[in-house]
Order: sequence, then C-alpha cells, then structure tokens
Amino acid sequence: MALTITINGACGRMGQALVELVRAAPDLTLKSLWDRPGHPAAASSVAADVPVATGPWESDPGMVIVDFSREEGLRTLLKSWPAAATPALVSGTTGLDEELQALLAQRAQRVPVFYAANMSQGIHALRLLARRAAELLDGKWDVELVEMHHNRKADAPSGTASDLIETLQAAWPRPLQPVFGRSGLCGPRGEDELGVFALRGGSVVGEHELVFAGPDETLRISHQAGSRLLFARGALRACRWIAHQPPGLYGMDDLVDP
Ligand SMILES: NC(=O)c1ccc[n+]([C@@H]2O[C@H](COP(=O)([O-])OP(=O)(O)OC[C@H]3O[C@@H](n4cnc5c(N)ncnc54)[C@H](O)[C@@H]3O)[C@@H](O)[C@H]2O)c1
Repeated sequence: MALTITINGACGRMGQALVELVRAAPDLTLKSLWDRPGHPAAASSVAADVPVATGPWESDPGMVIVDFSREEGLRTLLKSWPAAATPALVSGTTGLDEELQALLAQRAQRVPVFYAANMSQGIHALRLLARRAAELLDGKWDVELVEMHHNRKADAPSGTASDLIETLQAAWPRPLQPVFGRSGLCGPRGEDELGVFALRGGSVVGEHELVFAGPDETLRISHQAGSRLLFARGALRACRWIAHQPPGLYGMDDLVDP
C-alpha cells in the first residue's frame, strides 16, 4: 500500500520540490496540499488534481505530513492539531523558537515526529566530522563557520549553522562563544570565540564551511548543496522511515545510524 503524504507549505520552493518527487515515487501518493491563506498557487500547476487548501486540517492528512513552511506555518499546524489525528510528522522548517520546540516535543508524545534543520546526508556527515575534528585537534586551534544562502533566506545564521554551532560547543574541549560577524576595532580574536558569518546572495541553495586554524596549518571542511531536491529526497526518506516508528521525537542520528 502506498504511503499517503500531505505537504504543508506546498506552494514554496521546498513544497514544489516535494510535490515533484512524490509524483515520481511509485510507493508514495500525494494526499493533500496545505499552505497559508493568499498563498501563491504555483504548486497547483505541479499537482493540478490536488487543490491547495488555505490552512492545515482542511483536507485529509493521510499517513505522513511533511512540513516545509515557515515558523508560523508550523506553529499553526501544531496548535490546531485535532486530538484524534495520528499522522506522523516530518518537519524541516528552520528558525524554531523555544515555544515551537516545546510544541514539537509535546506532539511527539502522541505521534512519531522527525525534525531536522538539514535533511542532507552530506551535512549529517559534516556534523559527525566536526565532532571527530574536535577530538583530534588540539583544543588551542581556532574554529570559524561560514555559511552562504540565496538572497531570499529569512533567517540568519541558517538552521544548519546553528546546529553546527551546538555540535561544536558540545564536542570542543573548551567553551566556545559564537561571535556573529566582526567589524571595527574589535581587537585580537578571543580564545573562546567561534566566528560565524552569514553570506547572502543570488540563488545559492546552501553552503557551509568549517575552518579549523592551527599554528601554520588550516583545515577546511565544506559542503555545497547543488539543488533543493536533495533536501526533498532526504525528507521523503524520513517519511518512509518515520511511518513505522512509535511516537517520539527523532532526528538525523536516528535515521542515518538507527
Ligand atoms: N531542513 C532542510 O533540509 C531545509 C532545506 C531547505 C529549506 N528549509 C527550510 O524550509 C522552510 C521553507 O523553505 P522554502 O525555501 O521552501 O521557503 P518558501 O518561502 O519558498 O516557502 C514557504 C511556503 O510556506 C508557506 N507558508 C508561510 N506561512 C505559512 C503558514 N502560516 N501556513 C502555511 N504555509 C505557510 C508560504 O506561503 C510558502 O508557500 C524554511 O524554514 C527553510 O529554511 C529546510
């Protein structure tokens, strides 16, 4: 039996990439498309037979809801979740505040919830390499993070950069304090600094680079996303997996190394 999928944020760039991939997957069926009132109806040209509802729960969610909307889209979805509804949830929406994180954790007590600020397998490997680098390098090395995204991105630093900051803070042998950009007479770099730089421009899908600088040598580990389809592919991989899990909050660590 095909897995039935609903997309929240269906008219967005990620939403449309998901529609395209679900359409092409023999084991998946597009159940419903949800977006906000006054949404751009672009997705309806991709899935003409599935109208875009102007809000969550206006049509049958099927087995898994994939959310790539905005913070408000995810908030509305979680706050209006009917008590009897049991679809699994996969969300990749970034920039979650504490309330949204708590709402996700609360929902995960009832249904399986998968959340990843980056659904890419390569970025997951980058996080694991960052942990390993923290073990291998002398704690005296400096570490900096540079990310670049397209000129319409709403949040900075990116959700992935925030994840990488947390990963480094947890793994580094001494405390690291993020410094978001530098300018003016800021003086020598502090030993505990983790410089974070957010570049924005053009149509760049997503680039992240970790720079480890030691005495007379520099190690750079970087990842470039070639197209949005890779995130959509990762999200659908999560859908296929989460559909068979008990209620709980899951992430890339569970999916890649279950
Ligand atoms: N986790 C990942 O791997 C990953 C990858 C790419 C993008 N993202 C994140 O996914 C989200 C969407 O990215 P995008 O590039 O598709 O953005 P986008 O702006 O192109 O699309 C967002 C869509 O959400 C809709 N939306 C906004 N508010 C809504 C609401 N209240 N209810 C329902 N729908 C609403 C918009 O109308 C739009 O159709 C962002 O948070 C982005 O950072 C995550």
